[in-house]
Amino acid sequence: MKKVAVIGAAVTHFGELWEMSLRDLAREAAFSAINDAAITANDIDAIFVANMMASNTSGQAHLGALISTELRINVDSTRIEAACASGGLAIMRAEESIRSGRYKKVLVVGAEKMSDLSGFEISSALMEAGDEEWEMPYGATFAGLYALITRCYMERYKISEKHLALVSVKNHYHASLNPNAHFQQLVTIEDVLNSAPVASPLKLLDCSPVSDGAAAVVLADQDSAKPKVSIYLLGSGSATDTLALSERASYTSLPAVEKAAKSAYKEASLTPGDIDLAEVHDCFTIAEILAMEDLGFYPHGKTARALENKETTLGGKLPVNLSGGLKGCGHPVGATGVKQVVEIVNQLRGTAGKRQIKKADYGLVHNVGGTGATSVVHILGIK
Ligand code: COA
Repeated sequence: MKKVAVIGAAVTHFGELWEMSLRDLAREAAFSAINDAAITANDIDAIFVANMMASNTSGQAHLGALISTELRINVDSTRIEAACASGGLAIMRAEESIRSGRYKKVLVVGAEKMSDLSGFEISSALMEAGDEEWEMPYGATFAGLYALITRCYMERYKISEKHLALVSVKNHYHASLNPNAHFQQLVTIEDVLNSAPVASPLKLLDCSPVSDGAAAVVLADQDSAKPKVSIYLLGSGSATDTLALSERASYTSLPAVEKAAKSAYKEASLTPGDIDLAEVHDCFTIAEILAMEDLGFYPHGKTARALENKETTLGGKLPVNLSGGLKGCGHPVGATGVKQVVEIVNQLRGTAGKRQIKKADYGLVHNVGGTGATSVVHILGIK
């Protein structure tokens, strides 16, 4: 099987970017990644565009043709939509298009423009990723669904709201070291506990924000890759689960994550113990805790102790969400899975600035759609 390298990676600023349109954001990320790969747009054989809701938020569909138009190239160009997992899945499809031998250099652009809509409009648009018959009509929001998961987890494993807050404190700290992050300010446990209730027990500072932003990577087959540092996609996996949360056997673990992770570890011939850092999908604080356990980093119920011991903070034994995660860096949904890969690439290259870790050989990315209905895991490494 052909090895696939990441030869270019870039991300725009994440935040409420009133003066940037969806196409502005996507164009900036795409050209930055192409420049980073030291190639030109004419070298690109195909494009995969990750986006969830441009039809709703920008009145724009047909994003494949939009982005190829912006790049002034006429290549195969496809939009991939899997809610908040669109980015991770687009990278997987791009990787396969190279492994098959069809293409040599493929651009993946993830972009989302969310802040132009009101809170109600954006919540409704996001809920299209849930079950339209069994969740949306009953007033469910993703904050509400993750609040149910949180209640079950807290009851089963006897953790407190303070343990949830530790995720937010950590990820805001990491975001404060990332100039592209939506939030730059530090928060304390008290700030989180005293922030406004959103869906009890989740509060404002337990939630990822509504963000604008884009990220892009250029993938290439090993023969045509001439990168500064050789970084490869060593293993990938993707799996699905029931769309509605109510149909799941368990609310305290996401089987689709376990399944995707198993495939990715097997393909990479690695175990959780080999991973030096991870970017996981912390759309709500509980989601990071579930991810750490479903990915095999900690036994079920034990992540809270690791958070107390700062094991997953910069300087700890397994730093998690050094970009700031979705919580601190922001969550423009289609861009998130691509941004996570960009962060790992920067860490593996040693170019992550103030949040650079000392030993970075293998990094894992975990990207989830909805309440875990789609899960994608990638493992990247220098080999
Ligand atoms: N974390 C930290 N601060 C936040 C924030 C968040 N998640 N969301 C908003 N803020 C801040 C804003 O920056 C603003 O600060 P300012 O007054 O200093 O400018 C303030 O809170 C009010 O912002 P506003 O946009 O009015 O908040 P809101 O109440 O409309 O929205 C949430 C807050 C939590 C409801 C919204 O961020 C949300 O829906 N998040 C979840 C998104 C989601 O579901 N994504 C998909 C996951 S599956």
